[in-house]
Amino acid sequence: MKKVITYGTFDLFHIGHLNILKRAKELGDYLIVAVSTDKFNWEEKGKICQIKDTDRMEIVKAIRYVDEVIPETNWEQKKTDCEKYDVDIFVMGDDWKGKFDFLKEQGVEVIYLPRTEGISSTQIKQDLKK
Ligand code: CTP
Repeated sequence: MKKVITYGTFDLFHIGHLNILKRAKELGDYLIVAVSTDKFNWEEKGKICQIKDTDRMEIVKAIRYVDEVIPETNWEQKKTDCEKYDVDIFVMGDDWKGKFDFLKEQGVEVIYLPRTEGISSTQIKQDLKK
């Protein structure tokens, strides 16, 4: 069984999120999604989420392409998650291109998928403010 893992905030779940999860699942048989916690977003990225982490995790878990959801609480866990969950493929949007190539050293295939154009959680928040 091919296991795929991906990471993200998934705030204000939108079509770009759905597309990447669908494409990630198509690369293997079992998709794990690490959803970043509110604390991680605030402390490490300076981002405030509109939807709280427990709700974001529930929403992502309800997507048919997703088999398992785990919390993302720190930058270092990607390495240990890949070992712990015996991951074959690590997927991220190409806004992260090259950033996680170090996982190849532990035998994980690293794939950056093209982002869906014209939408992001940040964009939605900015548009609503106008
Ligand atoms: N993603 C995508 N296409 C988009 C937006 C996001 O493929 N239009 C992907 C990202 O590349 C990432 C995953 O979805 O692999 C989760 O991204 P996230 O940061 O939660 O979404 P954004 O909408 O980019 O959020 P923000 O604007 O806060 O960065």
